[in-house]
Amino acid sequence: MTRRYYITTPIYYVNDKPHLGHVYTTVACDALARFKRLDGFDVKFLTGTDEHGIKVKQAAEKAGMDPQAFTDQVSQTFRDLIKTMNYSNDDFIRTTEDRHEKACQILWKKLVAAGDIYLGKYSGWYAIRDEAYYGEEELTTTPDGKKIAPSGAECAWVEEESYFFRLSAWQDRLLAFYEKNPDSIMPETRRNEVISFVKSGLRDLSVSRTNFDWGVPVPDAPGHVMYVWIDALTNYITAIGYGDGEDSAEFKKFWPADLHMVGKDILRFHTVYWPAFLMAAGLEPPKRVFAHGWWTIEGQKMSKSLGNVISPDGLVARYGVDASRYFMLREVPFGNDGDFSHAQAILRINNDLANGLGNLAQRTLSMIAKNCGEAVPAFGTLTPEDKQLLEMAQVKMLAAVRTELDRQRFHKALEEIWNVVNAANGYIDAQAPWGLKKTDPARMETVLYVLAETIRCLALIVQPFVPDSAAKMLDQLSIPAHNRDFSSLDAAHALQSGTKLPPPQGVFPRIVEDEQKAANG
Ligand code: MSP
Repeated sequence: MTRRYYITTPIYYVNDKPHLGHVYTTVACDALARFKRLDGFDVKFLTGTDEHGIKVKQAAEKAGMDPQAFTDQVSQTFRDLIKTMNYSNDDFIRTTEDRHEKACQILWKKLVAAGDIYLGKYSGWYAIRDEAYYGEEELTTTPDGKKIAPSGAECAWVEEESYFFRLSAWQDRLLAFYEKNPDSIMPETRRNEVISFVKSGLRDLSVSRTNFDWGVPVPDAPGHVMYVWIDALTNYITAIGYGDGEDSAEFKKFWPADLHMVGKDILRFHTVYWPAFLMAAGLEPPKRVFAHGWWTIEGQKMSKSLGNVISPDGLVARYGVDASRYFMLREVPFGNDGDFSHAQAILRINNDLANGLGNLAQRTLSMIAKNCGEAVPAFGTLTPEDKQLLEMAQVKMLAAVRTELDRQRFHKALEEIWNVVNAANGYIDAQAPWGLKKTDPARMETVLYVLAETIRCLALIVQPFVPDSAAKMLDQLSIPAHNRDFSSLDAAHALQSGTKLPPPQGVFPRIVEDEQKAANG
């Protein structure tokens, strides 16, 4: 039976245009989804937009538009990123779709039937920016009397009739779940934060609103719409057919999700509220929620008022899609906060991609084109150095990368791959095939063969991260489409001597802009 893998991004609020922080999460998920597909899994990779709530409603009002027309427009700018960033998502969900309303209402009714929802009155502090409720004790007061949440968002006092979810009753069961499933919240520091939050006691959660109507109607409760987070979280089951019932084939196949990838700011919603809703409805919680860190830009918070927001289009126009994807995943240990600097991006891209992998491929393939009749060279007896490099590329690399990616350590996975790039560049310098042309042409061919085969393995394994560039490298090695998944990443599928090769072309351009500035810091 094929193994399945269900991976999701957060769904993005449509109150604003997409930026670096949004593409970061989706690029990480995309790399993982592609890796798993190539590794033989049946993958479902979901992303989409979160379109209800006061925040979106207010953004529509500000734009002078009807909320549906407004969300249609902004949702499209997120959908356009599929092309810009080369995402391989299998579905794109919008919370204003009928399938979603249906799923939310089914889940709601389950919670009511389980006795976990009751009608009460809410009075407390609400931050529209976070679409979250806060306790008085969590807030600070500014000199002019404003109440500020720990996230920096301003809160307003709300009093209204509301349905509540009996979250307080789930404390012990949540703690037992975390205990039994240590890898269900990662990284570990985040898991500890969640555990101490839950241990400090949970209050029942207000899950409906009556002071606006831009949301999913609560069944049998005119005037109430669902709290935007119960609506938003449900997207993960809507997209696999929950609206058609728990017995629907896709739901059975893909639930529970293998991984919800989220930013650290939305961890609590995914690791406290969501598993509680699911367990109350008799469903399993997701297998893992991984919280990544936040990007600052050149040392500062990314913000419109500072004018330093990095748009995906701007990023790709400057560096290209593959180099942008690579930089985001290589630069910062996944899970930590990171700083985006153009100088660092240029250094990293030029060093690793242009000089590292790009140069290795370019040097090797042009020597082959010139000296080996534009075909994969023949090879003779292999030396220990040859065997060592081949073993790294054909055997050890995939296992090491798999281990790192299974714990979302993208930077480590890339480090493992670049260990092989560096080893191959060391090998080429040590073997100096250009000097062998006259003295020992047969050995030159063997060296070039070992290098070309190493490049084949590298091109296969970088596909999830830099898909277009990897495809170009594989084209240059005449690797047919059916030999591009990881079942071909072994000695049994090694290059065949004599296979004709097309003329080599550079794959990773150097970024020359600002290079001097970068070198000067
Ligand atoms: N709509 C909710 C998520 C609902 S999921 C059921 C939401 N949307 S958001 O558009 O505000 O944020 C989406 C994601 O972008 C979050 O995971 C957030 O952490 C991430 N980022 C926003 N700014 C970011 C950075 N500066 N850096 C990294 N990620 C950031 O929250």
